[in-house]
Amino acid sequence: MQEIVFATNNQHKLSEIRRIVGDRYRILSLNEIGCHEDIPETADTLMGNALQKARYVKEHYGYDCFADDTGLMVDALGGAPGVYSARYAGPGHDSVANMKLLLSNMEGRTDRSARFVTVIALLLGGKELTFEGKVEGEILTSPEGDGGFGYDPVFRPEGQELSFALMTPDAKNAISHRGRATAELLKYLNTL
Ligand code: IMP
Repeated sequence: MQEIVFATNNQHKLSEIRRIVGDRYRILSLNEIGCHEDIPETADTLMGNALQKARYVKEHYGYDCFADDTGLMVDALGGAPGVYSARYAGPGHDSVANMKLLLSNMEGRTDRSARFVTVIALLLGGKELTFEGKVEGEILTSPEGDGGFGYDPVFRPEGQELSFALMTPDAKNAISHRGRATAELLKYLNTL
C-alpha cells in the first residue's frame, strides 16, 4: 500500500480522512514519522499555510505528503477568525476559548452567515497541487452537541437541522469543507 503523510497529529482529522480514503493509501501521522516539532504556519492565507506545512515535511522527512489548513469565515466579523481560527482566543489552540470568544463577538448580530474553507496541499512525485472544499452555514447562539472538534458545536451547515457536533462522522464528512476538499484530493489520486 502506498504511504502518504498527512501533516497533522489531530486524531479527529486523521480518522475523518482515513474513513474517506479507505484502503488505497496508508495515511501516516506526523508522530508516526517521528516529527514532533511544531511546523511553522506563518502564511496569511490558507493555501500558503497548507503549502508551507507540506513542503516542511517533504524537505525534512522526505515523504510524499499532504497538509490542510482550515478557516472559519464569519461574514458579520469581516471574515474573522479566518486564517487565524486556531489562535482566535490566543496562542494556546484552545477550542473552548475560541468558541466562547466567537459567541461573544457574535452577540446581538442578526447576520450569522459563515463558511468553513479547507485547502489541502499535496506534494506527490515532485508535483505540488492544491484542492479546496467549502461549506456554507451559520453560527449558532450557543453550543449544541459535543461531538467533532473545534468550532463544530457552534456551526450549523446550510439546509441541516443539526450542528456539526451533533452529526455522525459520516454525515459530517459527506458535506464538510474537509470532506469536500478530500474528495477532490481523492479524485486526483484516482487518476494516477
Ligand atoms: P486547522 O488549521 O485545520 O488546524 O484548523 C484551524 C481552526 O479551525 C482550529 O481551531 C480547528 O479547531 C478549527 N477547525 C478545523 N476544522 C474544523 C472542523 O471540521 N470543525 C470545526 N472546527 C474546525
